[in-house]
Amino acid sequence: TRRTIVSMPGDGIGRVVLEKTIRVLQAAGFDAEYIEADIGWEFWRKEGNPLPQRTIDLLEKYKIALFGAITSKPKEAAAKELSPELSNSGLVYSSPIVGLRQHFNLDICIRPCRSYQGNPLNFIRRGKNNTVEEPLVDVAIFRQNTEGLYGGVEWSNPDDTVYAALTSHPKFVKNFGAVPREEISVSTRIFTKQATLRILKAAFEYAKKNGYKSVTLCEKPNVIRETSGMMFKLAQEIQKAEYPNIALWNTNIDAQMMWLTKNPENYGVIVAGNMFGDIVSDGFAGLIGGLGFACSAQMSDEGIAVFEPTHGSAPKYADYEVSIVNPIAMIESACMMLDYLGEKEIAVKIRKAIATVIREGKTQTYDMMKMTGTPDVIQKGAASTQQMADAIIDHL
Ligand code: NAI
Ligand code: MG
Repeated sequence: TRRTIVSMPGDGIGRVVLEKTIRVLQAAGFDAEYIEADIGWEFWRKEGNPLPQRTIDLLEKYKIALFGAITSKPKEAAAKELSPELSNSGLVYSSPIVGLRQHFNLDICIRPCRSYQGNPLNFIRRGKNNTVEEPLVDVAIFRQNTEGLYGGVEWSNPDDTVYAALTSHPKFVKNFGAVPREEISVSTRIFTKQATLRILKAAFEYAKKNGYKSVTLCEKPNVIRETSGMMFKLAQEIQKAEYPNIALWNTNIDAQMMWLTKNPENYGVIVAGNMFGDIVSDGFAGLIGGLGFACSAQMSDEGIAVFEPTHGSAPKYADYEVSIVNPIAMIESACMMLDYLGEKEIAVKIRKAIATVIREGKTQTYDMMKMTGTPDVIQKGAASTQQMADAIIDHL
């Protein structure tokens, strides 16, 4: 069946990598129509809204989107770039990708990190007797995407009600004493049972479907007792009741950052709250080649799913006449979309083609090569975005 995919290129290199990705999808035989949706800086400047309602409507209707990247700027800087007609409108910029997450409650974020054999950027470690080992990483990080420390419930100089609530806590008196409210900033870390259960279940279900033997909860329950503690308790209950054949491991975020450079091959599915999920997924992305390889999916329980590379719009590379950035993160994100839609064969075909291109080593974008100049100078022999996409298409 022919699918309809909402295509949201956004800004900068998001536009380039999405265009090349659609070419790869077409060459691989994915039968789809793409409807382009407006999002990003241009629409902020022209309309005062980087996430127009018509874009929300399209996603509501067609449910599945590929997203490139957007440019965000601080509020003051953003206001200065509004078109003359809007310059006195008093409109305040807010990130459209965060807006999408909130609007559609895209609370599940999946970030797989799988190393390709032969990628010159793969993590290498020294073993006993100084041997060189290249452990291949194959993990999928499940990050709660809407709550916790990024939930936006924060205060500086809190009002009387909030201050009274804080100072009534025995730990506050004990640890902070009589600090005046003008000298306090608070960012809350709220976990709800419902959302925590959803991310945990998604992680276990993914482990079961994809043959992973363990789920690692990466939090800090011994210190952050209420939120991490609740997550750990729920994880134990789910594992016991529904997934007895999958091991539940419990690591602390700090120790996990150490373990991932010692034994990254030991981990399968990792699940965490919003901020720790963000941190640990960047950590693992670094082991498989970094931003050029880091893909992701965000989904709601109402069947809305957005697939996007982890990287941003990389403005310094946006205006190159020939684009030099690596399209693999975006192409891999599209493969996640294919998995989601049940188009396994096409996904496998594309991933195999990427694997062959990397293993052969003849086509490498600048980020895959040893730097010989400053990072923003095109490396000698580096492939362009187009050449990388072509090489992948040639190997389909
Ligand atoms: P960035 O991810 O855009 O770029 C950081 C650096 O990583 C680049 O300068 C480049 O050296 C490298 N890089 C990124 N993608 C690459 C690729 N595909 N191939 C090769 N190299 C690549 O992050 P930055 O510079 O912090 O942010 C730039 C803009 O993007 C900001 O306006 C930021 O707000 C926005 N952003 C948007 C995101 C999104 O749309 N989801 C996520 C992160 C940042
Ligand atoms: Mg991040």
